[in-house]
Amino acid sequence: MQTKELEKNNKPKRFSGILLHLHPQAINEKALSFNRTFGLGGMAALLIVIQFITGIMLRLYYEPFPQKAYDSIIFLQNNVLFGQLTRNIHHWSGVFLVIITFLHLLRVFFTGGYQSARKVNWIIGLILFVLIIGSNFSGYLLPWDQLAYWAVTVGTSLLEYIPFIGSALRELMIAGDEINSQTLLIFYNFHTAIFPILILLLMAYHFWRVRKAGGIMLPNDEEKNFVPTFPNLVYKEFVVALALLAIILIFSVFINAPLLIKANPDFSLNPTKAPWYFAGIQELLMHFHPFIAAFFIPAVIVISIVALPFLKLKDEPNGIWFYSEKAKDAAKFSLVSAIIITPFLVIANEYLPKFETMLPSINSFITNGIVPLIILLLIIWVYHKFVSKRFNLTRIEKAQTIFVFITTAFIILTIIGIFFRGVNMKLDFPWNV
Ligand code: HEM
Ligand code: HEM
Repeated sequence: MQTKELEKNNKPKRFSGILLHLHPQAINEKALSFNRTFGLGGMAALLIVIQFITGIMLRLYYEPFPQKAYDSIIFLQNNVLFGQLTRNIHHWSGVFLVIITFLHLLRVFFTGGYQSARKVNWIIGLILFVLIIGSNFSGYLLPWDQLAYWAVTVGTSLLEYIPFIGSALRELMIAGDEINSQTLLIFYNFHTAIFPILILLLMAYHFWRVRKAGGIMLPNDEEKNFVPTFPNLVYKEFVVALALLAIILIFSVFINAPLLIKANPDFSLNPTKAPWYFAGIQELLMHFHPFIAAFFIPAVIVISIVALPFLKLKDEPNGIWFYSEKAKDAAKFSLVSAIIITPFLVIANEYLPKFETMLPSINSFITNGIVPLIILLLIIWVYHKFVSKRFNLTRIEKAQTIFVFITTAFIILTIIGIFFRGVNMKLDFPWNV
């Protein structure tokens, strides 16, 4: 087809085939390069489809009542054809969905895909991310085993640190002081009805907005050469989808979704850990006053991410990873620095005497909250000054570098929380945890 004609067809009015409902008939050749997006948005969409299909299959056997839930899972695993496999696929796709969506968020951020016409889609994406965490968290309780019961107990107790409304919010969420049969029903309804509907609606809107913005963000200066979407893009998507399916299947065949003994509200696990995606916040709680760890730091991070497109750090379309070569180097430098500094600080805080114990007469909000927070902010500020000077960065490049530093630190905290916290939440090696 002639480029002109293809460009004309690019307007979202003529559709053919199911996949072409999602795509224009022709796309800019430059958008085809795999490392522009790594196919992460498409992978997230596929994982959601897998969750819907396997979720409906699980729902056929699952009974959302404390006396029956656990036994219904055992029955599903032992007596239903491919029951265990279906549960495993649902479990692993849930894990991958959080990771892939998070990577998609990072991709959009580091290629500047949140700017101009895509501002609203950034916010829609963030809401989708919250819904995905919500889906995972509500699903976590459903097997009603010890892991589910205590992880959700710890997870929901994080809410209590929100000033003024925290306790009421938790009580509303779990219908009482502790997890009970009503909680299970609420979580079940959110998991199998409310969240899926919201995700479907928002996902459709997200896709529509990607098309409305003219596809993904591409560098301005590149000349446009349109090629047919089928087979150029669709075949690539097919390969990515097959690879992802293969990986999920390998995990699901070899590693079963966890299931401990039936939930026992009188006997807590040691250590009692929140679900893995909250392990970073739980780890922060080991080092800071709860107000700082579970409210202040997460709130500052969330507000910054929401506000990002409106900060006018550099309000022009981009589409190039990290904006420049020097910013790429600065990002690599930040990655390595955070990988070294974070465990060092965690170990120092674990084994060195704490301000709280050295100065018992002073309010712990100061010794365990304000003082460590000031130290943390100082570290970030000094680091920021150092990299900006060393790599001679612009505003947006500075923001990206600090973002790499903080994100890497948070990932390291999450890994420490999941794999390196043993009995009584003491630091330990993964094989003892
Ligand atoms: C974004 C979508 C979804 C995510 C991220 C998700 C995630 C999860 C997770 C993490 C679990 C706990 C599994 C485990 O034991 O490890 C779970 C369980 C469950 N989910 Fe979903 N889910 C999703 C959608 C759905 C849908 C649409 C349905 C049904 C309509 C569903 C039905 C169930 C049922 C019945 C269980 C309990 C069985 C079990 O624990 O194995 N899910 N889900
Ligand atoms: C259910 C989860 C999500 C799905 C299925 C999804 C899907 C997609 C797809 C297929 C694209 C087209 C390009 C690509 O593959 O990267 C896209 C673009 C985009 N997504 Fe998502 N997304 C999700 C979550 C998010 C999140 C968490 C964010 C960020 C907060 C986000 C922000 C955006 C933005 C701003 C674009 C346009 C980027 C550009 O033009 O370069 N999305 N999304």
